Amino acid sequence: MKKLLSNIKKSKYYLNKNDCIGIPTETVYGLAANAYSNRATSKIFKLKNRSKKNPLIVHYYYLDMLKNDCELNESFFKLYKKFCPGPITFVLKLKPNSKISKNVTNNKNTLAVRFPKHKVTNKLLKDLKYPLAAPSANISSNISPVSKEDVIEEFGKKIKFILDGGRTKMGLESTIVSLYNVPQILRLGSMEIKKIKKTLKVKLKLKNKFKIIMPGQGKLHYSPGIPIRLNVKKPLPHEAFILIKKRKLNDMKYFYLTKNKNLKEASRNFYKTLRMIKKKKFKGIAVEKIPNIGLGQTINDRLRRASKK
Ligand code: TXA
Ligand code: MG
Repeated sequence: MKKLLSNIKKSKYYLNKNDCIGIPTETVYGLAANAYSNRATSKIFKLKNRSKKNPLIVHYYYLDMLKNDCELNESFFKLYKKFCPGPITFVLKLKPNSKISKNVTNNKNTLAVRFPKHKVTNKLLKDLKYPLAAPSANISSNISPVSKEDVIEEFGKKIKFILDGGRTKMGLESTIVSLYNVPQILRLGSMEIKKIKKTLKVKLKLKNKFKIIMPGQGKLHYSPGIPIRLNVKKPLPHEAFILIKKRKLNDMKYFYLTKNKNLKEASRNFYKTLRMIKKKKFKGIAVEKIPNIGLGQTINDRLRRASKK
């Protein structure tokens, strides 16, 4: 407890100085900065080597704080009541008098917001007078981080502090739903879309899954930097083989996401597995067919983006 309090204190110290720090969430680790500060948020883009055109998600604890920044509608309240805090991000209309830095939104009139579910980060958010802008804490296009060690691997000494919250529970990013016009899914994620559909009781469009639907979503993403082949039955000799069900195979090149097709477990292990394979210096990755249902859809989405040439 003492350690946690002193870590929260350190986090506040750096954030109040307009520095970036690593923070845990239930999905992936974020690279966080004061969302109201131009100076702090510009550091995020520099550190990640991220295009200024790619807007950031802002993390809140207090609904009242969000009310100052965004117009909230009925669909928002339905989803908020049911799923927050949790792995869902809302794209909302930004209020003209909001204090959100222009860097965060790329000067547009919408803002992506979420209420993360992580004890440590919520303790920090509760104590701050501003919300935190935080993209995933990786260099742009790299694999997303799911532990403090992963964040260190990405940034080394370039960031001042990482708030340790252990390995993340879910392991894939939040699901993004736009509530700006007609509700629409913009990114598949850790929240299954059927749950969102059921709550909103509307047909939810998932914009063409294979098309570029927003900045930073078209290019190579979530990538270990080596070729990936999908729906493979038999790997090539130089490839690591990612499997969704354990077999009696003892080769060092087999990596199981889960013992027996548990997609929650597979999601949690996904980025960790890619990172491990990269470290072992394999020249390629083959992946067996992953069921395209529920969280399997999200894993397949990430695999497709990671395997783009
Ligand atoms: O789980 C998550 O969502 C993690 C954790 C740290 O919260 N964050 C995360 O952030 O994945 P990032 O920056 O890696 O991905 C955010 C995505 C980007 O593709 C960005 O283009 C999109 O959200 N985005 C941000 N603001 C938007 C907006 N106003 N309209 C549409 N898309 C937006
Ligand atoms: Mg990211």
